[in-house]
Amino acid sequence: MIAKTPVEILDPEVAALAAKYDVYEVHKALAARDVANAYPLAKYPEYLPSTEHGSNPGYHGEFDHIEPGTRADPAMPNLKGLPGYTEDCIRYITPRLGSIIKGVQLSKLTAAGLDELALLATQRGVLAFHDQDLKDQGIEKFKEFGNHFGPLHRHPTQSLVMAPRTRRLRSVTSHERKEAHSLTECRYVQWHTDQCHEPQPPAVSMLVALEVPATGGGDTLFCSATRAYDTLSPAMQKFVCTLWSENSSKLISDSSAKIGGPVRRAPVPIAHPVVRVHPTTGQRSLFHNPHFSTDRIHNLKEQENIAIGNFLRNHIENSQDFQCRVRWAEGAVVVYDQRVVFHSATHDYEPGDRRHLLRIT
Ligand SMILES: [Fe+2]
Repeated sequence: MIAKTPVEILDPEVAALAAKYDVYEVHKALAARDVANAYPLAKYPEYLPSTEHGSNPGYHGEFDHIEPGTRADPAMPNLKGLPGYTEDCIRYITPRLGSIIKGVQLSKLTAAGLDELALLATQRGVLAFHDQDLKDQGIEKFKEFGNHFGPLHRHPTQSLVMAPRTRRLRSVTSHERKEAHSLTECRYVQWHTDQCHEPQPPAVSMLVALEVPATGGGDTLFCSATRAYDTLSPAMQKFVCTLWSENSSKLISDSSAKIGGPVRRAPVPIAHPVVRVHPTTGQRSLFHNPHFSTDRIHNLKEQENIAIGNFLRNHIENSQDFQCRVRWAEGAVVVYDQRVVFHSATHDYEPGDRRHLLRIT
């Protein structure tokens, strides 16, 4: 018997889309595994991942950026003027971090309202909006929202959205790397902020839930980076404020290459301060990403690097008193400020359950 190639056993819906959009690198193997695992057809196939390799992409260097939250009216008249808004719409996930907001549609926000949304995301770290119609508003609407918060980023290694003109939207699916990761790691939780290998990493970002696991799971975890700084002793705060670290996409590039994934550009080292200052609030926050991109802290000896790096990592990982988790539902939209929170995925859902999110950053 001749084994079928991945192309031959592609989900027919995925194959049709690949032909339609002339995508030259569809995620063939993963789509094939979809079929093998009897995943149902995707509800949003146009946003399934493409692992096109390509080249240089989206290393957008330094650019002028006006923080939208600095333009916002602190009274938030546009956000609070949305139809259905009442003070009862908002519930804190924890006193220190995160709000759940029901009863309003983000798609109705004006530009001034998006500025206020950015300010609220900075204040609360993470905002979870339920029952949103944004997922059905189309690519241009996603881009409009994303571009309001800064230039959209094209990721050097991760899956992008398959449909055309969307190479700066990231498709986050249930199967992506989950199985490969489980071969080498006992657990998946990886606290980080996105793309800190860039000279100007993302600011306010969004996740849109297209499909969520029927059996639950796949929550996103958040940890307050401002609390992580505030809870240090004054002596330690003073010390970490002097530190800079080297960041690059080498770790994620190596791990992508290991499973045959794309590496769209060579890793470039970027120095970032270990403590950053928020442009809207002036708040300080820890900026340390050992899982994804922080290679080492400058000017420390080897043993000091290990000790300080481990301390910061443990401080972020083990501080459940300023962490929260967001449970997904279809249509939910999460807005988070990458300068204020770390986040991590969880991989606790069942094989065959599709989790499909769109990240706009
Ligand atoms: Fe992330």
